[in-house]
Amino acid sequence: MELPFAEPWRIKSIETIRRSRPDEREAWIREARHNLFNLRSEQVYIDLLTDSGTGAMSAEQWSEIMLGDESYAGASSYYKLKESIEEILGFPHFLPTHQGRAAENVLFSSLIGTGNEGQGMIVPGNSHFDTTKGHIEFRHAEALDLTIAEAFDTESEHPFKGNVDLERLEAFFKATPRQRIPLFMLTITCNSSGGQPVSMENIRGVSALCKRFGVPLFIDSARFAENAYFIKVREEGYGGKGIREIVREMFAFADGATMSSKKDGIVNIGGFVAFRAREDFERAMTFNIMYEGFNTYGGMAGRDLGALSVGLREATTFEYLEARIGQVGRLGASLIAGGIPIQKPCGGHAIYLNALRFLEAVPRGEYVAQTLAVELYREGGVRGVEIGAIMADRDPVTRADRFPALELVRLAIPRRVYTDLHMEYVAAVVGAVWERRKAVTRGYRITREASILRHFTVELEALG
Ligand code: F0G
Repeated sequence: MELPFAEPWRIKSIETIRRSRPDEREAWIREARHNLFNLRSEQVYIDLLTDSGTGAMSAEQWSEIMLGDESYAGASSYYKLKESIEEILGFPHFLPTHQGRAAENVLFSSLIGTGNEGQGMIVPGNSHFDTTKGHIEFRHAEALDLTIAEAFDTESEHPFKGNVDLERLEAFFKATPRQRIPLFMLTITCNSSGGQPVSMENIRGVSALCKRFGVPLFIDSARFAENAYFIKVREEGYGGKGIREIVREMFAFADGATMSSKKDGIVNIGGFVAFRAREDFERAMTFNIMYEGFNTYGGMAGRDLGALSVGLREATTFEYLEARIGQVGRLGASLIAGGIPIQKPCGGHAIYLNALRFLEAVPRGEYVAQTLAVELYREGGVRGVEIGAIMADRDPVTRADRFPALELVRLAIPRRVYTDLHMEYVAAVVGAVWERRKAVTRGYRITREASILRHFTVELEALG
């Protein structure tokens, strides 16, 4: 008999969470103006808002917190991280930043500009994350999404829905003057299309085109280890290779990378931008010193650099990834068994509910995914996040709402935090809303919003 799977860790420290009453949640969500970001964490039972910065650190990581060297220059914690980055990702140069978007800010300041030099420039990629897109548009440049069409068909079981459409990329490169393309940004896994991986074959294809047309290739590596796991288990020829070996191969194609360490670094805060060429590193250094901090700490405390050096090693073990992605997959399988429409196959860090198929009666202009996210909270205190028209912001030119191909609610699973019983509870909450879905016919109207990244602070009024 084969014994069942179980996690390769045990729990040393716990945090109490409380289930609330429906009447409490009704009052709290109204007070929050129907924006889940406005809730206090005590008002949430299972928090699946994000897998970013919410992971549980290991005893080894906490030890590094105590060993943290807070020297302004040349801290030993910096050298520990440098060694991990060099060994695991293969980049000889890096600059620490306070999180992923800061790494984007430094990189784009260096490659695009700090003012409106971006006017007329285009940064192609595969469904850029919203802060990446925000930083590109802030510089008056354009983010061009070249993700394969299958990514937007939630029923397609394509194993690598983060892949770039290479034909469209080649056509774009042929039609566009080189000086208008500062870089290509490849996001692995691709968060916006459902935590979907990019295959090695596709990374190789993107890299070949970038080389042919002389465009630098940068990887947004927030969830690079999860991407490597999917390559190992889904791509032909990689089953026998180790995670570290796959990671090295993925990054060998790139000129550099941005990293939000809050994901696959399994730390609560931090990031970096890494480079292969010394001159790219030196150009970006000035911006890092101005925006983040001196080169050997950037936006991070010494203790956090140390914890990250260990987190990168832990995240790139097969045993960890099998438990992590397995948990996400089990939640997904239980929802699929209940007939609930989700993005298939399941992604690495989250389950994405297809809100357009879930709440079919709610009009598109009334923010369908947001409506579903609020219903999950009302039902059982589960907090997910809208990835739909609110997150897509308005068109920078016409100022009209942008309606993306999909309206999704993301249930992001923090790393090493919740048990499978918590996940069964989540599945039951989603199931209960699914049961009463036909009664949900109206959504929301925006009463207040910011001009960019509006989903964080938007205020909404219930319609009907
Ligand atoms: N790139 C990707 C793919 C991301 O998912 C994120 C953040 C960032 C960059 C920016 O990193 O938050 O450290 O500044 N994603 C979080 C999420 C916020 O919830 O998915 P950051």
